[in-house]
Amino acid sequence: VLSACLQRLDSKLCILRRLSTSSSLRIQVSVIGATGGIGQKLSLLLKVSPQVSALKLHDVQNSQGVALDLSHINTASSVHGYNGPASLHEALAQSHIVVITAGLPRQPNQTRADLFKVNADIVRDIMRAVAVACPEALVAVITNPVNSVLPVAANVLRDAGVHDPRRLFGVTTLDVVRANTFLGRMLCKDPATLKVPVIGGHSAETMLPIFSQTSPCIDLDSIDSLKIRELRDEVRHAGTKVVNAKEGLGSATLSIAYAAARFVISLCRGMNGERDVIECAYVESDVTDAKYFASAVLLGPEGVKKNLGYGKLTDNECKLLNALMPQLMADIELGDNHGKKPG
Ligand code: LMR
Repeated sequence: VLSACLQRLDSKLCILRRLSTSSSLRIQVSVIGATGGIGQKLSLLLKVSPQVSALKLHDVQNSQGVALDLSHINTASSVHGYNGPASLHEALAQSHIVVITAGLPRQPNQTRADLFKVNADIVRDIMRAVAVACPEALVAVITNPVNSVLPVAANVLRDAGVHDPRRLFGVTTLDVVRANTFLGRMLCKDPATLKVPVIGGHSAETMLPIFSQTSPCIDLDSIDSLKIRELRDEVRHAGTKVVNAKEGLGSATLSIAYAAARFVISLCRGMNGERDVIECAYVESDVTDAKYFASAVLLGPEGVKKNLGYGKLTDNECKLLNALMPQLMADIELGDNHGKKPG
């Protein structure tokens, strides 16, 4: 009798699962900066994701060519390309998710912060269009320096009266991906099975991988503390290493496109009401004294459903967190003051 009951329950669950898949939202994603180094790869990954129904690609040039190229891939989603500022509104209209990759990448000997002057204005202009064309969209910002550019984006939405902090994200997934990879390499474990939260911001000085909270749990005491320190530094300086290895031809594009696609797909899953979708992201936050802070967030239909904070830290992680706060706050202040008249 019990087995028959279980079978019936199982088949009911199957029907429910099918119903919930078939009633999935048709999610439209706009990629702004779509023909650049990150944009093209990200668009490819989104084109092959069943979570995305429609892709709108925008850039200053070549968007239509890239869109046509992608549109030949035999997945169900539609792809359209839009070139230049005049078509930005059209590229954003009716989108559920907007991903901003537009902006300059850094060169050897530059920090992410050195990009602020140019990239802040680019993101500001895109956000002005978002505020009008799709104020309800979830917006994921990849453009560097994320620490300072996100406050710029938030202020544009605030000034337009459409700011909802749950909907705006700085994408820091690559830091988590790197922490998983480097830890997996050190422990000879499959990195795909590891989850290391990374909190703080997205720069060498402000990001902090929390190895003590690795899941599945690892015994930190059995690892030489020097090794953990090296690992932390490896994560913090990984972006710069790629910039140097590319010798003036830009920064990471493949790994960041992978990480951004994972983040966008998680946003889609949250929008579709899937439970327990958790990612680390740089969001407006009251977890610390910093107005924006990267931590684990639970995603839902409106974006951030709950900020999960940073949990219990070791004494050393606490010290490192305190040490990074002044730089993070300065980065945020730079973004917050952008465009404000002095005095
Ligand atoms: C990265 O972490 O690879 C990106 O933020 C790009 C960069 O400039 O390092």
